[in-house]
Amino acid sequence: MNTVIENIKKRRSIRDYKKEQIKEEELQAILEAGTYAPSGCNAQSWHFTVIQDRELIGLMSNVAKEKLKTSSDEGFRNMANNKDLDLTHGAPTLVVVSGKQDAYSPLTDCSAAIQNMLLAAESLDIGSLWIGLIELSFDHEEVARKLNIPEGYKPYYGVALGYKGAGETRAPRRKENVISYIR
Ligand SMILES: Cc1cc2nc3c(=O)[nH]c(=O)nc-3n(C[C@H](O)[C@H](O)[C@H](O)COP(=O)(O)O)c2cc1C
Repeated sequence: MNTVIENIKKRRSIRDYKKEQIKEEELQAILEAGTYAPSGCNAQSWHFTVIQDRELIGLMSNVAKEKLKTSSDEGFRNMANNKDLDLTHGAPTLVVVSGKQDAYSPLTDCSAAIQNMLLAAESLDIGSLWIGLIELSFDHEEVARKLNIPEGYKPYYGVALGYKGAGETRAPRRKENVISYIR
């Protein structure tokens, strides 16, 4: 098997991080990999906001959890009521990925960039987690002021990055019958 495919299969969502910050050159390599994603009409419509202030990351997690308490989904409500749960699982870096709203396909572009970043992180043995739920914090007054997302961009997702802790990293079972052939 070639190393790219091996890396794709090895990547897992990491929900246990060491406190130690990742190295600046590792962060830069991961962000650069994000910018090499394909994008509709080559718009490269992403913007990355790197947060390495644990206080702000904690605030974002708490704000999002507070909103989750009123979710119609019981699993989410239970999650929100777990006072020990940090939606970023202690990751020392959180990258908020925002898309330029007048681009052709900003959400898809940003998603492609995120997957590149997750794979780049895995190739450096750095843990990562794509975090949709953190979106619930983006319109909070203090969070929005601190994030200072550029005019015309919408924040979509967070990506947690950090050295892997001891948590479980087994791949969920792959769904079957997801391929049809016409040939
Ligand atoms: C759009 C999107 C949003 C996600 N949001 C969250 C999230 O808020 N919290 C979380 O723990 N995992 C989140 N995940 C990670 C998924 O739960 C994870 O990818 C899935 O369970 C498969 O596990 P794997 O990444 O280890 O293959 C998200 C993944 C995607 C693609």
